[in-house]
Amino acid sequence: MTCDVRSTLFFLFVLIRICLAQNFEVPEPKIEILKPKGFKVTLKDDGYSFFGFRGNINEEFHEVNEGQMKADIVSKQGGYWVYKNRSKKLEVGDTIFYWIYVIKGGKGSMSPFLEYTVSASENEIGVGSPSVNSYTDPNQTTTTPESPLSKRFGKLCEVSKTVVQGENSVCEGSLIFNEDFDTTGLRSLSKWNAEIMFPTEPDFPFNAYIPDNTVSFEDGSLVIKPVLTETQYGEDFLYNTVNLGVRCTGKIDRSECRHEASGANVFPPVLTAKISTRHHFNFKFGRIEVRAKLPAGSWLVPEINLEPSDHTYGQDHYESGFMRVAFARGNPSLAKKLYGGPVLSDTEPFRSALLKEKISIENWNKDFHNYTLVWRPDGIDLMVDGEQYGTVSPELGFFEDARKHGVTHSSHWVTGTIMAPLDKMFHVTLGLRVGGINDFADDVTDKPWANRASKARLNFWRQKDSWYPSWYNSDLHVDYVRVYAL
Ligand SMILES: *[C@@H]1O[C@H](CO)[C@@H](O)[C@H](O)[C@H]1NC(C)=O
Ligand SMILES: *[C@@H]1O[C@H](CO)[C@@H](O)[C@H](O)[C@H]1NC(C)=O
Ligand SMILES: *[C@@H]1O[C@H](CO)[C@@H](O)[C@H](O)[C@H]1NC(C)=O
Repeated sequence: MTCDVRSTLFFLFVLIRICLAQNFEVPEPKIEILKPKGFKVTLKDDGYSFFGFRGNINEEFHEVNEGQMKADIVSKQGGYWVYKNRSKKLEVGDTIFYWIYVIKGGKGSMSPFLEYTVSASENEIGVGSPSVNSYTDPNQTTTTPESPLSKRFGKLCEVSKTVVQGENSVCEGSLIFNEDFDTTGLRSLSKWNAEIMFPTEPDFPFNAYIPDNTVSFEDGSLVIKPVLTETQYGEDFLYNTVNLGVRCTGKIDRSECRHEASGANVFPPVLTAKISTRHHFNFKFGRIEVRAKLPAGSWLVPEINLEPSDHTYGQDHYESGFMRVAFARGNPSLAKKLYGGPVLSDTEPFRSALLKEKISIENWNKDFHNYTLVWRPDGIDLMVDGEQYGTVSPELGFFEDARKHGVTHSSHWVTGTIMAPLDKMFHVTLGLRVGGINDFADDVTDKPWANRASKARLNFWRQKDSWYPSWYNSDLHVDYVRVYAL
Protein backbone atom coordinates (compact mmCIF):
# COMPACT_ATOMS: atom_id res chain seq x y z
CA MET A 1 0.00 0.00 0.00
CA THR A 2 1.38 3.39 -0.81
CA CYS A 3 0.20 6.41 1.05
CA ASP A 4 -0.21 8.42 -2.13
CA VAL A 5 -2.80 6.12 -3.62
CA ARG A 6 -4.55 5.91 -0.33
CA SER A 7 -4.66 9.65 0.25
CA THR A 8 -5.97 10.30 -3.25
CA LEU A 9 -8.76 7.79 -2.79
CA PHE A 10 -9.36 9.18 0.62
CA PHE A 11 -9.59 12.67 -0.80
CA LEU A 12 -12.12 11.63 -3.43
CA PHE A 13 -14.25 10.13 -0.77
CA VAL A 14 -14.11 13.30 1.25
CA LEU A 15 -15.01 15.24 -1.85
CA ILE A 16 -18.06 13.08 -2.36
CA ARG A 17 -19.06 13.78 1.19
CA ILE A 18 -18.61 17.51 0.98
CA CYS A 19 -20.43 17.67 -2.30
CA LEU A 20 -23.40 16.12 -0.61
CA ALA A 21 -23.57 18.76 2.02
CA GLN A 22 -22.05 22.16 2.68
CA ASN A 23 -22.82 22.08 6.32
CA PHE A 24 -21.17 25.10 7.86
CA GLU A 25 -18.94 27.99 6.97
CA VAL A 26 -15.19 27.39 6.88
CA PRO A 27 -13.11 30.23 8.33
CA GLU A 28 -10.19 31.63 6.38
CA PRO A 29 -6.85 30.28 7.48
CA LYS A 30 -3.76 32.39 8.12
CA ILE A 31 -0.97 32.28 5.54
CA GLU A 32 2.65 33.04 6.38
CA ILE A 33 5.60 33.18 4.03
CA LEU A 34 8.56 31.24 5.41
CA LYS A 35 12.26 31.92 5.19
CA PRO A 36 14.23 30.85 3.23
CA LYS A 37 11.49 29.07 1.23
CA GLY A 38 7.89 28.12 1.33
CA PHE A 39 4.79 29.04 3.26
CA LYS A 40 2.62 27.89 6.11
CA VAL A 41 -1.17 27.69 6.41
CA THR A 42 -2.66 27.73 9.91
CA LEU A 43 -6.29 27.19 10.82
CA LYS A 44 -7.48 27.51 14.39
CA ASP A 45 -9.22 24.37 15.54
CA ASP A 46 -12.97 24.46 16.02
CA GLY A 47 -13.70 20.83 16.78
CA TYR A 48 -12.49 19.60 13.38
CA SER A 49 -11.35 16.05 12.81
CA PHE A 50 -9.84 16.68 9.40
CA PHE A 51 -8.16 19.48 7.47
CA GLY A 52 -7.46 19.31 3.75
CA PHE A 53 -5.47 21.83 1.76
CA ARG A 54 -5.29 22.15 -2.04
CA GLY A 55 -3.15 24.85 -3.60
CA ASN A 56 -1.45 26.21 -6.70
CA ILE A 57 1.22 28.81 -7.01
CA ASN A 58 0.37 31.45 -9.63
CA GLU A 59 -2.36 29.33 -11.15
CA GLU A 60 -5.96 30.07 -10.41
CA PHE A 61 -8.47 27.34 -9.58
CA HIS A 62 -11.41 27.28 -11.99
CA GLU A 63 -12.88 24.09 -10.69
CA VAL A 64 -12.45 21.85 -7.67
CA ASN A 65 -9.35 19.81 -8.34
CA GLU A 66 -6.29 18.54 -6.54
CA GLY A 67 -3.92 21.35 -7.48
CA GLN A 68 -0.11 21.23 -7.34
CA MET A 69 -0.03 20.98 -3.58
CA LYS A 70 -2.24 18.74 -1.54
CA ALA A 71 -2.36 17.55 2.01
CA ASP A 72 -4.87 15.67 4.10
CA ILE A 73 -4.21 16.25 7.76
CA VAL A 74 -5.95 14.32 10.49
CA SER A 75 -4.13 15.55 13.54
CA LYS A 76 -3.95 19.03 14.95
CA GLN A 77 -1.01 20.48 16.84
CA GLY A 78 -1.58 22.65 19.88
CA GLY A 79 -5.06 23.73 18.82
CA TYR A 80 -4.12 24.49 15.21
CA TRP A 81 -4.26 22.68 11.91
CA VAL A 82 -1.09 23.38 9.99
CA TYR A 83 0.10 22.74 6.45
CA LYS A 84 3.63 23.69 5.46
CA ASN A 85 5.39 23.46 2.16
CA ARG A 86 9.01 24.52 1.98
CA SER A 87 9.72 23.60 -1.62
CA LYS A 88 9.50 26.95 -3.42
CA LYS A 89 10.87 30.40 -2.70
CA LEU A 90 8.04 32.88 -3.01
CA GLU A 91 8.79 36.33 -4.43
CA VAL A 92 6.84 39.53 -4.07
CA GLY A 93 3.85 39.32 -6.43
CA ASP A 94 3.57 35.53 -6.34
CA THR A 95 0.07 34.33 -5.51
CA ILE A 96 -0.98 31.20 -3.68
CA PHE A 97 -4.40 30.11 -4.96
CA TYR A 98 -6.02 27.61 -2.65
CA TRP A 99 -9.06 26.11 -1.07
CA ILE A 100 -9.49 24.11 2.09
CA TYR A 101 -12.02 21.74 3.52
CA VAL A 102 -12.64 20.55 7.03
CA ILE A 103 -14.72 17.88 8.71
CA LYS A 104 -16.53 18.58 11.93
CA GLY A 105 -18.89 16.20 13.70
CA GLY A 106 -18.75 13.88 10.69
CA LYS A 107 -19.84 16.64 8.29
CA GLY A 108 -17.60 18.21 5.72
CA SER A 109 -17.42 21.75 4.39
CA MET A 110 -15.31 23.42 1.79
CA SER A 111 -14.07 27.01 1.63
CA PRO A 112 -14.55 29.17 -1.44
CA PHE A 113 -11.51 29.59 -3.67
CA LEU A 114 -9.07 31.82 -1.83
CA GLU A 115 -5.85 33.55 -2.76
CA TYR A 116 -2.92 35.16 -1.07
CA THR A 117 -0.44 37.45 -2.81
CA VAL A 118 3.03 38.00 -1.38
CA SER A 119 3.57 41.70 -0.82
CA ALA A 120 6.83 43.54 -0.15
CA SER A 121 6.22 44.05 3.55
CA GLU A 122 5.47 40.37 4.07
CA ASN A 123 8.36 39.04 2.11
CA GLU A 124 10.05 37.65 5.20
CA ILE A 125 7.60 36.23 7.66
CA GLY A 126 4.36 38.00 7.55
CA VAL A 127 0.71 37.67 8.15
CA GLY A 128 -1.66 38.88 5.52
CA SER A 129 -5.35 38.73 5.11
CA PRO A 130 -6.46 36.34 2.43
CA SER A 131 -8.83 37.79 -0.11
CA VAL A 132 -11.86 35.95 -1.32
CA ASN A 133 -11.96 35.14 -4.98
CA SER A 134 -15.06 34.11 -6.84
CA TYR A 135 -17.02 31.33 -5.24
CA THR A 136 -17.41 28.36 -7.52
CA ASP A 137 -20.11 25.79 -7.09
CA PRO A 138 -18.39 22.65 -5.86
CA ASN A 139 -21.24 20.65 -7.42
CA GLN A 140 -19.63 21.26 -10.82
CA THR A 141 -17.32 18.27 -10.40
CA THR A 142 -19.60 16.10 -8.34
CA THR A 143 -18.89 12.43 -8.42
CA THR A 144 -22.09 10.50 -7.95
CA PRO A 145 -22.69 9.59 -4.33
CA GLU A 146 -23.20 5.95 -5.24
CA SER A 147 -19.65 5.68 -6.60
CA PRO A 148 -17.99 2.36 -5.64
CA LEU A 149 -15.37 4.41 -3.81
CA SER A 150 -17.79 5.34 -1.10
CA LYS A 151 -18.57 1.67 -0.64
CA ARG A 152 -14.92 0.69 -0.40
CA PHE A 153 -14.11 3.51 1.97
CA GLY A 154 -17.12 3.28 4.20
CA LYS A 155 -15.26 4.77 7.12
CA LEU A 156 -13.38 8.01 7.12
CA CYS A 157 -10.72 6.57 9.32
CA GLU A 158 -9.51 3.25 10.66
CA VAL A 159 -8.62 3.75 14.29
CA SER A 160 -4.93 3.10 14.87
CA LYS A 161 -3.25 1.17 17.69
CA THR A 162 -1.16 4.28 18.22
CA VAL A 163 -2.03 6.32 21.30
CA VAL A 164 -1.32 10.04 21.47
CA GLN A 165 -1.51 11.76 24.84
CA GLY A 166 -4.41 14.21 24.85
CA GLU A 167 -6.23 12.70 21.83
CA ASN A 168 -9.11 10.26 21.93
CA SER A 169 -7.98 8.29 18.91
CA VAL A 170 -5.96 8.75 15.78
CA CYS A 171 -6.45 7.41 12.26
CA GLU A 172 -4.20 4.69 10.86
CA GLY A 173 -1.23 6.06 8.97
CA SER A 174 -1.86 9.67 9.96
CA LEU A 175 0.91 12.12 10.65
CA ILE A 176 0.74 12.71 14.40
CA PHE A 177 3.84 14.86 14.85
CA ASN A 178 5.78 16.96 12.38
CA GLU A 179 8.72 19.23 13.02
CA ASP A 180 10.59 20.88 10.15
CA PHE A 181 12.68 23.27 12.25
CA ASP A 182 11.85 26.19 9.97
CA THR A 183 12.45 28.61 12.78
CA THR A 184 15.10 31.11 13.73
CA GLY A 185 15.31 30.50 17.46
CA LEU A 186 14.60 28.12 20.30
CA ARG A 187 11.93 30.46 21.64
CA SER A 188 9.68 29.97 18.64
CA LEU A 189 10.09 26.19 18.74
CA SER A 190 6.70 25.47 20.23
CA LYS A 191 6.77 21.69 20.56
CA TRP A 192 10.09 21.24 22.33
CA ASN A 193 11.87 22.27 25.51
CA ALA A 194 15.60 22.47 25.91
CA GLU A 195 17.28 20.70 28.83
CA ILE A 196 19.42 22.74 31.17
CA MET A 197 21.23 20.26 33.39
CA PHE A 198 24.21 18.10 34.20
CA PRO A 199 23.38 14.61 32.93
CA THR A 200 24.45 12.08 35.55
CA GLU A 201 23.34 8.50 36.09
CA PRO A 202 23.66 6.02 34.65
CA ASP A 203 26.14 7.05 31.93
CA PHE A 204 27.78 10.17 33.40
CA PRO A 205 28.56 11.83 30.07
CA PHE A 206 31.25 14.52 30.08
CA ASN A 207 29.01 17.36 28.83
CA ALA A 208 26.48 19.70 30.36
CA TYR A 209 23.29 20.61 28.50
CA ILE A 210 23.29 24.41 28.27
CA PRO A 211 21.39 25.70 25.22
CA ASP A 212 23.18 29.03 24.95
CA ASN A 213 25.64 28.88 22.06
CA THR A 214 25.05 25.22 21.40
CA VAL A 215 21.77 25.40 19.45
CA SER A 216 21.09 27.14 16.17
CA PHE A 217 18.88 26.78 13.11
CA GLU A 218 20.39 26.73 9.64
CA ASP A 219 18.53 26.20 6.36
CA GLY A 220 15.56 24.67 8.11
CA SER A 221 17.64 22.28 10.24
CA LEU A 222 18.28 22.11 13.96
CA VAL A 223 22.02 22.28 14.67
CA ILE A 224 23.47 21.16 18.01
CA LYS A 225 27.11 22.06 18.45
CA PRO A 226 29.55 20.85 21.12
CA VAL A 227 31.39 23.86 22.57
CA LEU A 228 34.36 23.67 24.95
CA THR A 229 33.46 25.08 28.34
CA GLU A 230 36.79 26.93 28.50
CA THR A 231 35.99 28.72 25.22
CA GLN A 232 32.63 29.85 26.56
CA TYR A 233 33.46 30.65 30.18
CA GLY A 234 37.30 30.51 30.56
CA GLU A 235 39.42 27.68 31.91
CA ASP A 236 39.03 28.62 35.58
CA PHE A 237 35.37 27.83 35.27
CA LEU A 238 36.17 24.12 35.25
CA TYR A 239 37.04 24.33 38.94
CA ASN A 240 33.95 26.31 40.00
CA THR A 241 30.89 25.22 41.86
CA VAL A 242 27.91 26.04 39.68
CA ASN A 243 24.23 26.06 40.52
CA LEU A 244 21.85 26.13 37.56
CA GLY A 245 19.08 27.58 39.71
CA VAL A 246 15.50 27.85 38.57
CA ARG A 247 16.35 27.27 34.90
CA CYS A 248 17.43 23.71 35.72
CA THR A 249 15.30 21.00 34.10
CA GLY A 250 17.02 18.10 35.90
CA LYS A 251 16.29 16.36 39.16
CA ILE A 252 17.49 18.46 42.07
CA ASP A 253 18.24 15.42 44.21
CA ARG A 254 20.64 13.88 41.71
CA SER A 255 23.25 16.61 41.26
CA GLU A 256 21.69 17.34 37.87
CA CYS A 257 21.22 20.99 38.88
CA ARG A 258 24.32 21.71 40.93
CA HIS A 259 27.95 20.99 40.16
CA GLU A 260 30.17 20.75 43.21
CA ALA A 261 33.83 21.41 42.38
CA SER A 262 36.06 18.91 44.15
CA GLY A 263 39.31 17.24 43.12
CA ALA A 264 38.91 15.25 39.93
CA ASN A 265 35.25 16.20 39.62
CA VAL A 266 35.81 19.07 37.18
CA PHE A 267 32.91 20.93 35.60
CA PRO A 268 31.80 19.18 32.40
CA PRO A 269 34.47 20.27 29.89
CA VAL A 270 32.02 20.41 26.96
CA LEU A 271 28.68 22.17 26.57
CA THR A 272 26.05 20.68 24.28
CA ALA A 273 22.26 20.69 24.05
CA LYS A 274 19.32 18.34 24.17
CA ILE A 275 15.69 19.07 23.36
CA SER A 276 12.64 17.02 24.15
CA THR A 277 8.92 16.86 23.34
CA ARG A 278 8.11 15.65 26.87
CA HIS A 279 5.84 18.62 27.64
CA HIS A 280 4.12 18.70 24.24
CA PHE A 281 4.02 15.31 22.56
CA ASN A 282 3.92 11.85 24.12
CA PHE A 283 2.78 8.74 22.33
CA LYS A 284 2.72 4.95 22.36
CA PHE A 285 3.46 2.91 19.21
CA GLY A 286 4.08 4.51 15.86
CA ARG A 287 6.67 5.11 13.18
CA ILE A 288 9.26 7.82 13.66
CA GLU A 289 11.31 9.18 10.77
CA VAL A 290 14.24 11.49 11.42
CA ARG A 291 16.41 12.97 8.71
CA ALA A 292 19.70 13.83 10.30
CA LYS A 293 23.43 14.21 9.85
CA LEU A 294 25.22 12.67 12.82
CA PRO A 295 28.16 14.32 14.60
CA ALA A 296 31.72 13.40 13.53
CA GLY A 297 34.56 13.53 16.05
CA SER A 298 36.02 11.26 18.68
CA TRP A 299 33.84 10.42 21.68
CA LEU A 300 30.76 12.23 20.34
CA VAL A 301 27.43 10.41 20.22
CA PRO A 302 24.06 11.54 18.88
CA GLU A 303 20.93 11.19 20.98
CA ILE A 304 18.05 10.59 18.59
CA ASN A 305 15.86 8.71 20.96
CA LEU A 306 12.44 7.83 22.24
CA GLU A 307 12.56 8.20 26.00
CA PRO A 308 10.01 7.13 28.63
CA SER A 309 7.69 9.94 29.67
CA ASP A 310 6.74 8.72 33.14
CA HIS A 311 9.45 6.19 34.06
CA THR A 312 6.66 3.87 35.17
CA TYR A 313 9.05 0.95 35.65
CA GLY A 314 11.60 3.00 37.59
CA GLN A 315 14.25 5.72 37.24
CA ASP A 316 17.48 3.76 37.47
CA HIS A 317 19.66 1.70 35.16
CA TYR A 318 17.32 2.35 32.19
CA GLU A 319 14.75 0.07 33.79
CA SER A 320 12.00 2.01 31.98
CA GLY A 321 14.00 1.61 28.75
CA PHE A 322 14.61 3.90 25.81
CA MET A 323 14.87 3.43 22.05
CA ARG A 324 17.67 4.58 19.81
CA VAL A 325 16.41 5.75 16.41
CA ALA A 326 19.98 6.35 15.22
CA PHE A 327 23.25 5.87 17.03
CA ALA A 328 26.77 5.93 15.60
CA ARG A 329 29.86 6.87 17.53
CA GLY A 330 31.75 9.83 16.07
CA ASN A 331 35.24 8.29 16.21
CA PRO A 332 36.62 7.71 12.70
CA SER A 333 37.31 4.08 13.61
CA LEU A 334 33.72 3.45 14.77
CA ALA A 335 31.60 5.67 12.54
CA LYS A 336 30.74 3.05 9.91
CA LYS A 337 28.54 1.17 12.38
CA LEU A 338 24.98 2.34 12.84
CA TYR A 339 22.81 1.04 15.67
CA GLY A 340 19.12 1.29 16.40
CA GLY A 341 16.71 -0.37 18.82
CA PRO A 342 15.95 -0.62 22.52
CA VAL A 343 18.29 -0.15 25.46
CA LEU A 344 16.81 -1.80 28.55
CA SER A 345 19.79 -1.86 30.89
CA ASP A 346 22.68 0.54 31.55
CA THR A 347 25.37 -2.14 31.59
CA GLU A 348 26.69 -4.64 29.11
CA PRO A 349 26.13 -7.21 27.85
CA PHE A 350 22.36 -6.56 27.90
CA ARG A 351 22.75 -2.83 27.19
CA SER A 352 23.59 -3.57 23.54
CA ALA A 353 22.00 -7.00 23.27
CA LEU A 354 18.84 -5.81 21.51
CA LEU A 355 20.42 -3.19 19.25
CA LYS A 356 20.54 -3.87 15.52
CA GLU A 357 23.61 -2.93 13.54
CA LYS A 358 24.20 -1.80 9.99
CA ILE A 359 27.71 -1.42 8.62
CA SER A 360 28.29 0.98 5.77
CA ILE A 361 31.27 1.64 3.49
CA GLU A 362 31.09 5.35 4.32
CA ASN A 363 30.97 6.89 7.76
CA TRP A 364 27.34 7.44 8.72
CA ASN A 365 28.14 10.99 9.78
CA LYS A 366 29.31 11.98 6.30
CA ASP A 367 25.79 12.84 5.07
CA PHE A 368 22.15 13.20 5.98
CA HIS A 369 20.21 9.93 6.20
CA ASN A 370 16.59 9.05 6.80
CA TYR A 371 16.47 6.99 10.02
CA THR A 372 13.23 5.18 10.81
CA LEU A 373 12.06 3.18 13.80
CA VAL A 374 8.71 1.40 13.77
CA TRP A 375 7.47 0.71 17.28
CA ARG A 376 4.73 -1.93 17.24
CA PRO A 377 2.85 -3.64 20.09
CA ASP A 378 4.80 -6.79 19.21
CA GLY A 379 8.22 -5.63 18.06
CA ILE A 380 10.42 -2.95 16.55
CA ASP A 381 11.71 -2.48 13.00
CA LEU A 382 14.77 -0.43 12.13
CA MET A 383 15.31 1.21 8.74
CA VAL A 384 17.68 3.60 7.12
CA ASP A 385 17.06 5.35 3.80
CA GLY A 386 14.07 3.07 3.21
CA GLU A 387 16.00 -0.16 3.78
CA GLN A 388 15.18 -2.37 6.75
CA TYR A 389 18.25 -3.53 8.69
CA GLY A 390 16.73 -5.18 11.71
CA THR A 391 13.72 -6.36 13.64
CA VAL A 392 13.62 -6.71 17.40
CA SER A 393 11.13 -9.25 18.68
CA PRO A 394 10.23 -9.57 22.36
CA GLU A 395 9.20 -13.20 21.78
CA LEU A 396 7.81 -14.24 25.18
CA GLY A 397 8.59 -10.82 26.65
CA PHE A 398 11.74 -8.75 27.07
CA PHE A 399 11.73 -9.75 30.74
CA GLU A 400 12.53 -13.37 29.84
CA ASP A 401 15.57 -12.41 27.82
CA ALA A 402 16.72 -9.85 30.40
CA ARG A 403 16.35 -12.31 33.24
CA LYS A 404 18.61 -14.76 31.41
CA HIS A 405 21.18 -11.97 31.19
CA GLY A 406 20.96 -11.42 34.95
CA VAL A 407 19.18 -8.06 34.70
CA THR A 408 17.43 -7.92 38.07
CA HIS A 409 15.17 -4.96 37.34
CA SER A 410 13.45 -7.03 34.61
CA SER A 411 11.18 -8.30 37.40
CA HIS A 412 9.46 -4.87 37.31
CA TRP A 413 8.27 -5.54 33.78
CA VAL A 414 6.13 -8.62 34.45
CA THR A 415 3.11 -6.42 35.16
CA GLY A 416 3.27 -5.08 31.58
CA THR A 417 2.82 -6.59 28.12
CA ILE A 418 5.48 -8.60 26.27
CA MET A 419 6.89 -5.23 25.11
CA ALA A 420 7.41 -3.98 28.69
CA PRO A 421 9.03 -1.63 29.52
CA LEU A 422 8.29 -0.33 25.99
CA ASP A 423 4.52 -0.32 26.46
CA LYS A 424 4.09 3.12 28.03
CA MET A 425 4.13 6.69 26.72
CA PHE A 426 7.40 7.85 25.20
CA HIS A 427 8.58 11.16 23.73
CA VAL A 428 11.21 12.30 21.25
CA THR A 429 14.61 13.62 22.30
CA LEU A 430 17.40 15.08 20.17
CA GLY A 431 20.76 15.81 21.65
CA LEU A 432 24.50 15.34 21.61
CA ARG A 433 26.63 13.64 24.22
CA VAL A 434 30.30 13.37 24.91
CA GLY A 435 32.05 10.27 26.30
CA GLY A 436 30.52 8.85 29.45
CA ILE A 437 31.22 5.58 31.16
CA ASN A 438 28.99 3.18 29.22
CA ASP A 439 29.07 3.98 25.51
CA PHE A 440 32.75 3.31 24.75
CA ALA A 441 34.46 0.05 25.69
CA ASP A 442 37.85 0.43 27.35
CA ASP A 443 39.65 -1.30 24.49
CA VAL A 444 38.84 1.42 21.91
CA THR A 445 42.12 2.85 20.55
CA ASP A 446 43.47 5.97 22.27
CA LYS A 447 40.66 6.17 24.79
CA PRO A 448 41.75 8.76 27.38
CA TRP A 449 39.76 7.37 30.29
CA ALA A 450 38.81 4.02 31.82
CA ASN A 451 35.11 3.57 32.44
CA ARG A 452 35.53 2.47 36.03
CA ALA A 453 38.21 5.02 36.99
CA SER A 454 37.14 7.82 39.32
CA LYS A 455 39.01 10.41 37.23
CA ALA A 456 37.28 9.53 33.95
CA ARG A 457 36.11 13.07 33.19
CA LEU A 458 39.35 14.75 34.24
CA ASN A 459 41.44 12.30 32.21
CA PHE A 460 39.25 12.94 29.21
CA TRP A 461 39.75 16.69 29.54
CA ARG A 462 43.52 16.41 30.10
CA GLN A 463 43.90 14.63 26.77
CA LYS A 464 41.99 17.24 24.81
CA ASP A 465 44.77 17.39 22.21
CA SER A 466 44.12 13.78 21.28
CA TRP A 467 40.42 14.30 20.45
CA TYR A 468 39.61 17.95 19.87
CA PRO A 469 41.36 18.14 16.45
CA SER A 470 38.89 15.46 15.21
CA TRP A 471 35.87 17.73 15.93
CA TYR A 472 35.67 19.64 12.66
CA ASN A 473 32.24 18.29 11.62
CA SER A 474 31.05 17.80 15.12
CA ASP A 475 27.52 19.25 14.88
CA LEU A 476 24.35 17.18 14.90
CA HIS A 477 21.98 18.39 12.17
CA VAL A 478 18.31 17.39 12.18
CA ASP A 479 16.25 18.35 9.16
CA TYR A 480 12.92 16.93 10.31
CA VAL A 481 11.16 14.63 12.73
CA ARG A 482 7.92 12.99 11.66
CA VAL A 483 5.84 10.54 13.62
CA TYR A 484 3.05 8.56 11.99
CA ALA A 485 0.34 6.43 13.56
CA LEU A 486 0.63 2.71 12.80
C1 LIG B 1 4.97 21.41 -2.17
O1 LIG B 1 4.82 22.20 -3.32
C2 LIG B 1 5.34 21.63 -4.51
C3 LIG B 1 5.13 22.64 -5.63
O2 LIG B 1 5.73 23.87 -5.29
C4 LIG B 1 4.66 20.31 -4.80
O3 LIG B 1 5.24 19.70 -5.93
C5 LIG B 1 4.80 19.38 -3.60
O4 LIG B 1 4.07 18.19 -3.81
C6 LIG B 1 4.26 20.07 -2.37
N1 LIG B 1 4.47 19.20 -1.21
C7 LIG B 1 3.49 18.89 -0.37
C8 LIG B 1 3.88 18.02 0.77
O5 LIG B 1 2.34 19.30 -0.50
C1 LIG C 1 -25.21 21.19 -4.60
O1 LIG C 1 -26.12 20.11 -4.77
C2 LIG C 1 -26.98 19.89 -3.64
C3 LIG C 1 -27.79 18.62 -3.89
O2 LIG C 1 -28.22 18.56 -5.22
C4 LIG C 1 -27.88 21.14 -3.43
O3 LIG C 1 -28.74 20.93 -2.29
C5 LIG C 1 -26.96 22.31 -3.15
O4 LIG C 1 -27.73 23.49 -3.03
C6 LIG C 1 -25.95 22.49 -4.29
N1 LIG C 1 -24.97 23.49 -3.91
C7 LIG C 1 -24.84 24.63 -4.58
C8 LIG C 1 -23.84 25.59 -4.04
O5 LIG C 1 -25.49 24.88 -5.60
C1 LIG D 1 12.13 7.54 5.11
O1 LIG D 1 12.16 6.14 5.30
C2 LIG D 1 10.88 5.53 5.46
C3 LIG D 1 11.05 4.08 5.80
O2 LIG D 1 12.35 3.63 5.68
C4 LIG D 1 10.07 5.73 4.22
O3 LIG D 1 8.80 5.14 4.38
C5 LIG D 1 9.92 7.21 3.97
O4 LIG D 1 9.24 7.44 2.77
C6 LIG D 1 11.30 7.88 3.90
N1 LIG D 1 11.08 9.32 3.83
C7 LIG D 1 11.65 10.06 2.91
C8 LIG D 1 11.28 11.51 2.93
O5 LIG D 1 12.44 9.62 2.11
